Amino acid sequence: MSERGRSSSNMAVAGGPSFWLGNETLKVPVALFALNRKRLCDRLRDNKAVQKNSFVLLQGGEETQRYCTDTGVVFRQESFFHWSFGVTEPGCYGVIAVDTGKSILFVPKLPESHATWMGKIHPREHFKEKYAVDEVQYSDDIARVLASLKPFVLLTLRGVNTDSGNICREASFEGISQFDVNNTILHPEIVECRVIKTDMELEVLRYTNKISSEAHKEVMKAVKVGMKEYEMESLFEHYCYSRGGMRHTSYTCICGSGENSAVLHYGHAGAPNDKTIKEGDMCLFDMGGEYYCFASDITCTFPVNGKFTADQKAIYEAVLKSCQVVMKAVKPGVAWPDMHRLADRVHLEELTKIGILKGNVDDMVKVHLGAVFMPHGLGHFLGIDVHDVGGYPEGVDRIEEPGLRSLRTARQLEAGMVLTVEPGIYFIDHLLDQALKTPAQACFIDDAVLRRFRGFGGVRIEEDIAVTATGMELLTCVPRTVEEIEAFMADAKVTSKSFAT
Ligand code: GLY
Ligand code: MN
Ligand code: MN
Repeated sequence: MSERGRSSSNMAVAGGPSFWLGNETLKVPVALFALNRKRLCDRLRDNKAVQKNSFVLLQGGEETQRYCTDTGVVFRQESFFHWSFGVTEPGCYGVIAVDTGKSILFVPKLPESHATWMGKIHPREHFKEKYAVDEVQYSDDIARVLASLKPFVLLTLRGVNTDSGNICREASFEGISQFDVNNTILHPEIVECRVIKTDMELEVLRYTNKISSEAHKEVMKAVKVGMKEYEMESLFEHYCYSRGGMRHTSYTCICGSGENSAVLHYGHAGAPNDKTIKEGDMCLFDMGGEYYCFASDITCTFPVNGKFTADQKAIYEAVLKSCQVVMKAVKPGVAWPDMHRLADRVHLEELTKIGILKGNVDDMVKVHLGAVFMPHGLGHFLGIDVHDVGGYPEGVDRIEEPGLRSLRTARQLEAGMVLTVEPGIYFIDHLLDQALKTPAQACFIDDAVLRRFRGFGGVRIEEDIAVTATGMELLTCVPRTVEEIEAFMADAKVTSKSFAT
């Protein structure tokens, strides 16, 4: 039930202001955020713990510098604040009256020197028009303005991010102690709102996927033996920014080749995509561009030379099969851990056909053999954050079993959720060695065959999907089958040769 390649049309709401970076980039109406605020207020009004004359108070992100220097770090808005207001500037607050939905944006009063160093100081009216909020005030005046509203309570945001374990920063300002504050109600409500995407949000995620898919294809066309992995990172980022207006990526690019393709979060400062890509390497490139704080998260795996060996094809097609089987099964009501188990089962069946495993697959499942080859979770929510919030609301518990415990959500699927489907098979020496030392697992492994795959690296296929009323919509659009990849890469070689002559 997938609709491939739906185009992302420009969706500016007639007459309303929008975020737009010109050229072919997407116009995003700021009405998107007005709708989010309305949805939040509707939920809060349904919450019996919320009294009349309550106000949501959110604090936006602040600009930071590198360590103790004055070198600025490019600002990216805090995600909850972005979801609510779509404001790109740092140092703001936002207030929403739960009863009426009235929105007040508080912007910093900038010093005169700002006009010299940073550019024009805009009046409050500028922000009122830009973000289509009901009122704009200066952050310095927040205590006075809020006092004039005589709030029953200020609802502030405090809660744990279930992926990082970090607690989000609660809004605070000088003088807040004169108000009654509740910091427990808002977090679960706003998180639930973020889990279900609106049509306007979906349109932005279609766009981030469209641009990032095209960028992956540019990389596939350009990759050659002898290049550095970071050249691919650079090319991806260049395409995303120059063509898609994506100044940020959603996460650090993972450009693993050869053995590095089995390093799940390769690309960090200690392993910064700096290997030279060699003949025979598989490339596992996990990269996603971010537009106006909306993410994408796509992995393509392919041989650098554009031609799969028999072993590469076998492993790749095992992962492709699990990806396809899962996508076919996705629909509202399905439990995400069951999709993880389904992918594991397909992997075990296919690894048995290849000869790496032997024996009964049901028995392999009982000893969690799937997690030896796919130690990460099958996928996660995607939205303003790449690992989007809401995976474990109250009442949904992490499953403490190998593999499953890495899932970033154990929820049942609902229409409007956006997730990644990212099965993988990896040959990670320390996991294989551990399994071989565990008699209950070792009995299923044919070590002589497995030895052939030591150093192979890994294969991951990562698609971004939106759950619909009857199934799912595939947002990602890249060559996926062995035939598609080989034809695409062969075509790219012919085209580049004909340009060279
Ligand atoms: N790129 C990180 C992930 O796939 O979750
Ligand atoms: Mn990824
Ligand atoms: Mn992912």
